Formats: sequence, structure tokens, C-alpha cells
Amino acid sequence: MSDRIHTLSGYFHEYQKSVADPENFWAKIADSFHWKKRWDKTLEWDFEGPDVKWFLNGKLNITENILERHLYTMGDKPAIIWEPNEPGDPNRIITYMELYEEVCRFSNVLVEKGVEKGDKVIIYMPMVPEAAIAMLACARVGAVHSVVFAGFSSNALADRIIDCKAKVVLTSDGNFRGKKKIPVKSVVDEALEHTDLIETMIVFQRTGQEVTMKEGRDFWWHEAIEGKSKSHEAVEMDSEDELFILYTSGSTGKPKGVVHTCGGYMIYSKYTFENVFQYTPGDVYWCTADVGWITGHSYIVYGPLLTGATTIMFEGVPTYPNPGRFWEIVDKYKVNQFYTAPTAIRALQVHGTEPIAPYKLDSLKVLGSVGEPINEEAWHWYHTHIGKTKCPIVDTWWQTETGGIMVSPLAGITPNKPAFATLPLPGVQLAIMDPEGKELKGNSVEGNLCIKFPWPGMIRTTYGDHDRCKQTYFAAYKGMYFTGDGVKRDHDGYYRILGRVDDVINVSGHRMGTAEVENAINEHPLVVESAVVGYPHPVKGQGIYAYVICDMSNRTEANLVNEIKASVTNMIGPIAKPDKIQIVPGLPKTRSGKIMRRILRKIAEGNMDSLGDTSTLLDPDIVDKIIAGRKE
Ligand code: WT7
Repeated sequence: MSDRIHTLSGYFHEYQKSVADPENFWAKIADSFHWKKRWDKTLEWDFEGPDVKWFLNGKLNITENILERHLYTMGDKPAIIWEPNEPGDPNRIITYMELYEEVCRFSNVLVEKGVEKGDKVIIYMPMVPEAAIAMLACARVGAVHSVVFAGFSSNALADRIIDCKAKVVLTSDGNFRGKKKIPVKSVVDEALEHTDLIETMIVFQRTGQEVTMKEGRDFWWHEAIEGKSKSHEAVEMDSEDELFILYTSGSTGKPKGVVHTCGGYMIYSKYTFENVFQYTPGDVYWCTADVGWITGHSYIVYGPLLTGATTIMFEGVPTYPNPGRFWEIVDKYKVNQFYTAPTAIRALQVHGTEPIAPYKLDSLKVLGSVGEPINEEAWHWYHTHIGKTKCPIVDTWWQTETGGIMVSPLAGITPNKPAFATLPLPGVQLAIMDPEGKELKGNSVEGNLCIKFPWPGMIRTTYGDHDRCKQTYFAAYKGMYFTGDGVKRDHDGYYRILGRVDDVINVSGHRMGTAEVENAINEHPLVVESAVVGYPHPVKGQGIYAYVICDMSNRTEANLVNEIKASVTNMIGPIAKPDKIQIVPGLPKTRSGKIMRRILRKIAEGNMDSLGDTSTLLDPDIVDKIIAGRKE
């Protein structure tokens, strides 16, 4: 059954209902899912704790709503279409029946390896269908998956394994990305030198590269599933049992594990998928994200599969073997909804329109954007050259913590305005706050974006540290969830996201904590202190600029810079590598020792005329020295 909105007046009507009576609004939507036992109470909440529970005492298994639910009506319909890295290599088309059988087989493997309800399983895999099968098999047996993007380093992986106390890792031998063949299993091996929590590792063979298998701990995926039954009785889960943990960066400390639970996430990911993309049966949908991020969780795997959609998984990169690859795939599978990030659009824009010319792109109905603010130029390029001016663009604002899309047009329904995420989805009650904690009502206002009322897909806690959840999201504004983003509501009441207002930077749609990058830089033995800021970057959105105080003994600057980059790659991964590193004699600090990041940000941006008052600094002269050595 579908809860799809069809008209703009329908949207306003649903929105009003969702605010006037949120419980009945969501209960009606939840009623169209399969529950093993219906819930007793729709919502209990308080944002002080925070303590939020949806569909209390409801019993379900999310995979029954993906698999069993679609078997009889669409068993032979493609659930996942997998396009390999190499255009000439065979693709894979997995029907709902096959997905059911593969998930059951792998569920039986997990059971055989002793995985029980509540156990934590790390998934560190490339973009192959088995990554989705792994997620669903975990959900089916009641294990909590934590997918770690396969570009993270062994240190970052070890941190996550230790934080969530995982006992199983699912991985692959290697990963094909463009021209590269990247080792994967050996990264896990390195991570496991830091911990002995992991009892079992299951390795999917993708590249055939050499790996070492540890007797009794490591098993091949293809051997493990051999002879396993293709049926498995899904474990009964409570609505508020954990479904998954996904680590994300914040302004302080190490990444935190955002916890999502079974019932609310299920309802929210499907409802938002169907409505935002206006998915209709038979459509082919493609989201280019990686399953290692929340976009991959909600809009490659859960949302589309709960809807009975055909979802494409692409193993490769947008520019291999040439910058026309995305468009070749769109034509090949007659993609109807295409969802990508502004950074990918800008990276392709650089190559002009020639790579697009050979392709028709006439199957496209909807274009989506996610991960960072989309600049107007990229918006128009996307609209004109990819959408041929006939496809609405859904600029979807949301976060790992929100579980699903929060502010976005409904495709073809909400009038677009370039670079505006437009209006909140039904059930989403936004508030714009001024720095004093007062809500700014009415139109034409700008401030910090908060959410006043719970929605089913919201974060429940940060794993193992509930107080951190409270401090990070519920402490800045009493009784509200604070997003960390700045926002403007224009004269029409449309929302435009302005970017982060905290110490989080957004590099190619990837979220990075400045403190996290600084800690990685400081691992280098010659580094005394560092400060990291973001600056505008033409393709990445934001680039990483690092100011570093070093002991220069026996090193050239070039050597040091390379070593620092290597240190960051080693501690976090290549995505966190600074674009610019400036060795400085000191940092601008207040008398109380606080680094004035505002000044460093302005210098990185090249805004040297608007540094403001620097006379209160401990050493005002340092600013001129830093400006003199600025990296262009
Ligand atoms: C942050 C969340 C949620 C999917 C991917 C990123 C920024 C996300 C938009 C957008 C402007 C956006 C925000 C947000 N962001 N989408 N459409 N317009 N900014 O998830 O890693 O949790 O990052 O990404 O700053 O807070 P994430």
C-alpha cells in the first residue's frame, strides 16, 4: 500500500494533519506495514533525556517488510541491479525472490557462527550486492549492523569495532574502484591487531587478490553459504530494538555511533523515499552513494526495498572509464530517479557537456541532490544538461541522525527554487533559533536550524554514551533537537540550508570533524599543535586547510607536509587528507589560550580585509606572519 502524496494541496493537507495530530498521522502510515504484533502506544517522548520511543511494544522484523511482503506479488521483479566497475563485465540482477533466498542463506550462516539478537556486526565491504545482503541478514537475525565505509583506515575501523564491541566482521578480499584494485581484507587484519573482540570474519571474494586467512576465525563467504537453507524464520524484534549503528563525525572527539531502531526507521525511510522521489511501481531508481553512509542505508537499501522498488548499486566511480559513465548507466537501465551529490555534479561539470552528448537520458523523471548545499550554478547545470529542463530537482536536506529526508521538495509537486531545499516533509516541525535561544517566527529570517517535535526516523542515542547524545543535540536549545546547520527562511517560507555552524566541515559531502583531523595531524611526532578549518573549494564544496606548528629539525617543509598527509590517511583515511598544509610559527590565541578559528577561517578563505579586531590576541603579530605564508 502506498501513502504517496499526489498534489501540492495534498502536501499541505498532510502537513497540517501531521502537526495537529502526529500520533494518528504516523499510526495510519505504520498500519500499512506488516507487524508481528501491533504497537500499544504510538509515541512517548521527552527531549530532555532525551527519551524517544515510537510504536511502543510493536513487534516486527524489517526484512519481512522487504522480502516476504513482496514475494508473491513481485518475486520475479528486480530488487537490486548491480553495475560493476568495469563497463564490459557482467552485471547482476537480483530479483525479490533471489534476494529473499540469499538473505535467508546468509542469515543461516550468521546463526551458525553464533550471532544472536543484539550482537554487533561490522560490515566493511565494497559496493557489491552482498553488502546489502549482509545488512539485511543482520536485521533478519536481530544483530545490529554497523557499516564502515571501506575507504576508512585500519585505525578508524579499529576504533569503531572497539566502540561498539563487535564480534563479527563481514568484508571482502579487495575492491575495484576505477583503475585501482584496493586491498580490503588486509585493512581489517591490521585493525584486528588492535583488538581481539572479533571471533569471526567472513570474506566475500571480489578481486581474487591474495589474502591470508586465519584458521578458525576467517571464512570465505561462498564456502559459508554452501548448502545453507534458503529459508529462515525472521527473529521478532521490538520497535525500539536497535537496527543499526552508524558512526559520524561531530565537532569534538572521536566519531560517535548514531543509533537507529527498527520500527520508526522502517516507517520513516519508506515514507520519505516514496514521497520525495514519487516512486511509482516499475520505476528504476539509482542512488550513487556508498552503503557506508546513511544515504546508502536509507536510499539504496532500506527505503527503496521497503517500497518494492528496483534499486541500482554501482561499484565504480563517476569518471571511470570516462566522465560519461553515470549517463551510460542511466541509459543502460532506463533510470527514472537519479540521486547524487553536488560534489559529483561539479566534478562532472568540469568536463563540459561533451561526455553527456552520446546519451539520451530520456528515461529520467526526477533528479536528486544530497550531502551539502548545492550551489546555483551546479543546480542549473544539472537541471539543463542532465534533466533537459523537464525533471524536477529534489534538494534533500537531512543527516545521519535524522535517519531520512527532512526538508525537500516532493518531486514534481513542490515548486522548485534553485539551491533551496524548500519545505519540511509531513511530520517535520522546524524552528529557526537566534543565538539567544529565541525562536524566529515568520518569514525572511535566518538562524540555527532546530526541530521541535520527534519524527519516527530520529536518532535514539549515541552508542555507549547517552549523555553525549544529550550534550550534542539536545543541550544547545532547551526542548529542541539542534542540527548544527544554519538556515534561512525566505519571503515565501522556503528553506535554504547555509551550512554547518559548528566545527564540522563538509568535504565532498563527507562530514569531518576539525578536531578529529587535528588529532590525526598531531599523531606526527614533530607536530606541536595544529588547527584545521574549512575553505570554499570549487569541486569539493569545502577543502581542508591545516595550520601546523612543527619542530622542523632535519626536515624540509615539503617532507613534513607529505608525512602529515600520510599520518591523516593512516589515522582516518584518504578522505580526510588536508588539501593545504601551512607550517606556522604560532596560532592566533586569546589570552585564555583559545584558538581564534574565525581568523584562521578568514585567512584560509582569502578574506584578509575582514579579520576584525585582533588586538586582544596573546600575540597580535602572529596574524601577519600567517598571512604572509598563506597557501594559495
Ligand atoms: C550534514 C549531514 C544526509 C545525507 C548525507 C550527509 C549537510 C546534507 C544537505 C542539503 C545542504 C546538506 C548538512 C547536514 N547536508 N544534505 N541538501 N543541503 N546541506 O549526511 O554526513 O550526516 O551530514 O550534511 O550540513 O548537517 P551527514
